[in-house]
Amino acid sequence: MSESPVILKAQNVHKSYRMGATRVVVLKGVDLLVREGEFVAIVGASGSGKSTLLHILGGLDRPDKGLVQFQGRDVNRMSARELNRYRNETVGFVFQFYHLLDELSVRENVVLPAMISRSITGWLMMRRRARQRGEELLEQLGLRERARHKPYQLSGGERQRVAIGRALMNQPELLLADEPTGNLDSTTGSGILNVFDQLNQAGQTIVLVTHDERVARRAQRIVTLVDGRVKG
Ligand SMILES: Nc1ncnc2c1ncn2[C@@H]1O[C@H](COP(=O)(O)OP(=O)(O)OP(=O)(O)O)[C@@H](O)[C@H]1O
Ligand SMILES: [Mg+2]
Repeated sequence: MSESPVILKAQNVHKSYRMGATRVVVLKGVDLLVREGEFVAIVGASGSGKSTLLHILGGLDRPDKGLVQFQGRDVNRMSARELNRYRNETVGFVFQFYHLLDELSVRENVVLPAMISRSITGWLMMRRRARQRGEELLEQLGLRERARHKPYQLSGGERQRVAIGRALMNQPELLLADEPTGNLDSTTGSGILNVFDQLNQAGQTIVLVTHDERVARRAQRIVTLVDGRVKG
């Protein structure tokens, strides 16, 4: 069987933060290749730069030096408009603390990314399809009975499923998850990892960041960050 094409490539990625007079060097030349359909876990100690790297891969932050390519396109050279599109449509993000909007219902939180990426007329033209996609996701994630709840009326696992629905709304080619089970008990966390498994089996490319080896073992491949670089 031939290997599937590379979807994401990071080469010699450097990142440091200035803190007053000192500089915190976080990434010192990270190299990473992710192929279409892969489920990769990035592990490393707390403070090793996992979140920093994930933000750079998703276009939420810029490297000081180095290359990030998505399907051969240089993320750092994208125009503001292209970058917005990349963040909103190409990539889906799932965070440890969900980051849902408490004023909106479960259903509205899931559909929101489809609204954000469009003009008012564009939205009016496609809202039926978007709402239908939203309903499918609620069904798929076992949230149909919770569609009218507000996030604060949900359990942690339910909140994370809403966040996964939101991340999948625009059918991203790449799903990025930062410690998605970090705030959940092990049973609930395992349920969330089952969702990732199912998505991956349906072809979704996933990059997940965690400090938890047990979580990482659910991925096909584990990449370790040590001293600002990928080990091995
Ligand atoms: N905006 C910032 N300004 C200054 N320093 C930062 C900033 N963001 C991160 N850092 C520092 O960079 C290092 C890496 O942070 P990062 O959040 O990427 O680690 P992590 O591997 O995700 O850790 P954890 O497992 O605890 O989430 C840390 O030492 C942190 O203090
Ligand atoms: Mg982190």
